[in-house]
Amino acid sequence: MAVVVIVGGQWGDEGKGRIIDLLAEKARVVVRFSGGDNAGHTVVNPHGEFRLHLVPSGIFYPLVTCIIGSNVAINPAVLLEEMDDLKYHGIDINRLFISDRAHVIMPYHILLDGLEEERRGKGAIGTTLRGIGPVFADKVARLGIRAGDLLDKGALLNRLKSVLEIKNAILTKVYQVSPLVLEEVHRQYCHYGEQLAPLIQETGSIISEAVTKDEPVLLEGAQGALLDPDFGTYPYVTSSSPLAAAGCIGAGLGPRRIDRVLGIFKAYNTRVGAGPMPTELKDEIGDLIRKKAHEYGARTGRPRRCGWFDAVAGRFSVWINGLSDMALTHLDIYDGFHSIKICTAYRFNDEILTSFPSDIAILDECQPIYEELDGWQESVSGIRDFEKLPVAARKYMSRLEDLLSCPISLVSTGPDRSQTILLADLFS
Ligand code: IMO
Ligand code: MG
Repeated sequence: MAVVVIVGGQWGDEGKGRIIDLLAEKARVVVRFSGGDNAGHTVVNPHGEFRLHLVPSGIFYPLVTCIIGSNVAINPAVLLEEMDDLKYHGIDINRLFISDRAHVIMPYHILLDGLEEERRGKGAIGTTLRGIGPVFADKVARLGIRAGDLLDKGALLNRLKSVLEIKNAILTKVYQVSPLVLEEVHRQYCHYGEQLAPLIQETGSIISEAVTKDEPVLLEGAQGALLDPDFGTYPYVTSSSPLAAAGCIGAGLGPRRIDRVLGIFKAYNTRVGAGPMPTELKDEIGDLIRKKAHEYGARTGRPRRCGWFDAVAGRFSVWINGLSDMALTHLDIYDGFHSIKICTAYRFNDEILTSFPSDIAILDECQPIYEELDGWQESVSGIRDFEKLPVAARKYMSRLEDLLSCPISLVSTGPDRSQTILLADLFS
């Protein structure tokens, strides 16, 4: 039995939801450890098709306890709506808990996210406009409101009073928009607090009990390594760490408790929002991938930028996450491709770069150097036996394993939970 961290290996949208939904069958606890409702984790299982933004993707198993961890930013309205939708579909959500340490997204966070993006103009990050940057900024600026604060109406009023003074000054004086009304915000968040009260608690004890008893625990990341505020394409990044190390912090576990780290990669690359992406295809191949895979943001509906697999970025992701295993998703999208390219290095002026640059001005100028592999004409859709995959598909996987120095332990060949080939027992 093991603690397994599951993270996005690229720029998000790798298919984390479907992999966690599959692996959670054997888990005792699933902890969502970072991000907020900027995430959109799609799960297709016998209960239906769901797009989870905050609720951990283990919620579909009646014996799995699901925790929204301390480093997740919670928009209570979004969470309540998501809970209602799950209940409507007959899902038992009685084992869902929220860390009292998790920060809460307030109306000014959402307003400021939009106003800041507008102010950036051409340099806009292309955020999901969910208040993510402002809520995490407030957390480290020690101006945040935590889930536990919603439980004490008097203390919440005092806290809000002092925070709103600053926020209203920014809203009115910097952005010339209307201020927020203290009483209204207080009333609304007291109401959320009443509804969420049964779920909010100190959740570390649930996790430590499971770990101590050697029960399987999954730590569910959001976003992807290349959106990390430290190691991603700064400033075109998100505002909480999507890396495996953040799984420890978000769950309140020391690094020695982690047994395996599974990185999810799409068979190609996508990115939504601005920022460099060396393998982006602005041609009919990019359009074909987008069309076949329906690459439109689960959160914003924006078309995702699509391109060939970037093994330079992939190797970097394996290293900074300390991946023990990879899961490859969307392999079926390459069905019918005559040939498939992998970026193995970048050309920057006269130099060949084999490592991922920290400076986005350099990354922006990098030209991908490709290796070309044979494609396959058969459909891999729904194949559940590795040996039945076309030889070219197996060769493609094997080349990715070599280039990234990490084994592929799981392949998904379609959106459904059952359309997966498991090549290793991740809980052993
Ligand atoms: P999942 O968990 C893909 C991107 C946004 C934007 C940047 C900053 O579904 O993989 P933010 O709203 O976080 O301040 O936006 O990060 N982004 C994601 N892209 N998948 C996600 O989550 C993302 N969450 C944020 O598009 O470029
Ligand atoms: Mg997404």
